[in-house]
Amino acid sequence: MEIKRVGVVGCGIMGSGIAQVAAQSGYQVVVSELNDQLLTKGLGNINSALSRSVEKGKMSPEEKEAVLGRLKGTTRLEDFGDCDFVVEAVVENMEEKKKVFAALDKVCPKHAILASNTSCLSIIEMAMATQRPDQVLGAHFFNPVPVMRLLELVRSIATSDQTLEAAKKFGESLGKTVIVAKDAPGFIVNHLLLPFMLDAVRLVERGFATKEDIDNGVMLGLNHPMGPLTLGDLIGWDTICFIADAIYEELKDPRYAPPMLLKHMVLAGKLGRKTGQGFYDYPK
Ligand code: 3HC
Repeated sequence: MEIKRVGVVGCGIMGSGIAQVAAQSGYQVVVSELNDQLLTKGLGNINSALSRSVEKGKMSPEEKEAVLGRLKGTTRLEDFGDCDFVVEAVVENMEEKKKVFAALDKVCPKHAILASNTSCLSIIEMAMATQRPDQVLGAHFFNPVPVMRLLELVRSIATSDQTLEAAKKFGESLGKTVIVAKDAPGFIVNHLLLPFMLDAVRLVERGFATKEDIDNGVMLGLNHPMGPLTLGDLIGWDTICFIADAIYEELKDPRYAPPMLLKHMVLAGKLGRKTGQGFYDYPK
């Protein structure tokens, strides 16, 4: 099956990044949001990202216009009727995701592959909301999507070989290196990342080190581009807490239990960059 038309459900941080990368890779893309206001914001973010590439001389103004010409925004899932590959990137809530999958199953062509960008939720549960569980898999992108080189595909017990192969080809056509994980909590990357990030929060909570020293230790001692507390501010501590809770719920492994400081930060709205304050301050 040749993939020509790509759908992205949700135009937030992840959805807009996925839509941008797909349009830059030559696909016709339709991206949806719940309402016009959110759609305008998401498309505006893509426009700004492309303008930055033009300013840096990495893209010509004509290329930018061509990318935008391949990108269509909508607030109606009915507009996904001619998509070959759809990535769902809505809020991390199983009930919401199941609704999206059931709706996509009705409007998308029979051959279409339906993927979820979930960071930790069960793929088989979403797949069973459709009549095509063999054509459903996880396509976990990383933030910021245009920069990060990895695509983690997640194969459920029902995903067919054909679906996995088509998704691998699609991921590679976006310039990503593809890895494959089973449908287990946290897949590969978050399974490894979460204990590390939660331990960084525990170090602060126990007063063992300052946030700056923890981040510098990891950046300069391990050559990571960001320390774990800066990275959590980028991802959003509500997201980290949600992933930790979801993995803990499944495995009951105490390494994934969110520390109290993290829970309190989430309750206080100290979520990171998106609220202007996390471990660090981000003045507007
Ligand atoms: N969108 C698009 N491009 C961006 C960007 C964004 N949000 N942020 C930075 N960039 C681009 C810049 O434009 C720049 O491009 P250039 O090289 O062409 O000029 C390049 O990335 C480098 O950016 P900067 O020079 O501004 O800053 P850095 O060198 O510090 O890089 C970073 C920024 C790429 C975010 C880097 O710090 C990094 O890689 N951090 C780690 C990110 C990471 O680990 N992400 C994974 C999170 S886990 C996840 O997503 C899974 C989920 O399930 C939790």
